Amino acid sequence: MTESNNGKEKKVIFSALKPTGDLTIGNYIGALKNMVALTEDYDCYYAVADLHSLTVENVPADLRRRSYDFLAFFVAIGLDPDKCTLFLQSHVPAHAELAWVLNCYTLFGEARRMTQFKDKSKKAPENVNVGLFAYPTLMAADILLYQADLVPIGKDQQQHLELARTIAERFNNRYSPTFVVPEGFYPKTGAKIYSLLDPTAKMGKTDDNTAGTIFLLDDEDTVMRKFKRAVTDSGNEIKFAADKPGISNLLTIYSIFSGKSVREAEVEFAGSDYATFKTRVGECVVEYFKPIRKKYFEIISDKGYLNELMKKGAEKAARTAYRTLSKVYRKVGLVPAP
Ligand code: TYM
Repeated sequence: MTESNNGKEKKVIFSALKPTGDLTIGNYIGALKNMVALTEDYDCYYAVADLHSLTVENVPADLRRRSYDFLAFFVAIGLDPDKCTLFLQSHVPAHAELAWVLNCYTLFGEARRMTQFKDKSKKAPENVNVGLFAYPTLMAADILLYQADLVPIGKDQQQHLELARTIAERFNNRYSPTFVVPEGFYPKTGAKIYSLLDPTAKMGKTDDNTAGTIFLLDDEDTVMRKFKRAVTDSGNEIKFAADKPGISNLLTIYSIFSGKSVREAEVEFAGSDYATFKTRVGECVVEYFKPIRKKYFEIISDKGYLNELMKKGAEKAARTAYRTLSKVYRKVGLVPAP
């Protein structure tokens, strides 16, 4: 244990995924894969960010199903519940409590600049709610409660992470060192995976046209069909290039799931046509997820196991979270409940 480590034995990782829409290969490449890779050497807290889901419209039954689903996928991709803490955000009330405090240390102008807030406001102008505006302060609370050193995320969350850093630094300067200032941890390849139908737009869980998104729940035929219909570029060369966003996106996806570099993939497909290439990418993704999907189906049918897991996870998370929260309450001048 060293001072520079904030009194912790191991460095801490936090990340979360929001259960609006089913998990995609974008989520896997951007965040989940790194979340698994980091479990050996770090103290990891991984949450299903169900409170964040309330910022957009949801069918309550779908939100409940997805919360279980995400947890089942956490385990299926290889997150060992004995080695890391897996839980639902709403089961640890400290998240909402710290978010309130952080709201009071975040400037209106800072929250208004968030591009996701602007994008989502445009997408649903009839539901620009206060929660959507305060979304990044809840996310900051998630991270700061656990004194996280590293946050594995995709590129689209970078601006939120930067705001979390700003809030932490502001609080630390105003009072005394309280929060670890977290760093983002991005994949070297695939920090932003694009839609198969529009390779200039992010592949999203809630895209209007699901044909551009590969969901982890998609069966083999669906995955193959979506890849075969993926938009490609003019020309016929299989090359990673700025003027070939469709092919570059597919090469990135292939590289991740084949374990080959993009350069190796280019060599492998030199002289192939687009149709052959797209079929191979699809097959590679199907192969990769076969064991994961098998495990997922075993786990999702066992609600008892998942309930037990989320209970244990929330208890452990709450112990850490309340240590930070009580420190914060004390520093800002709230009287501890006698
Ligand atoms: P969410 O649920 O939209 O996405 C979950 C993770 O997947 C990454 N991601 C992608 N990466 C690459 N390419 C894509 N097309 C792609 N789409 C999504 C995201 O960057 C993210 O890492 N606000 C967060 C959830 C959250 C959170 C947190 C994350 C709540 N609290 C604290 C980190 C720390 C969100 O909505 O991610």
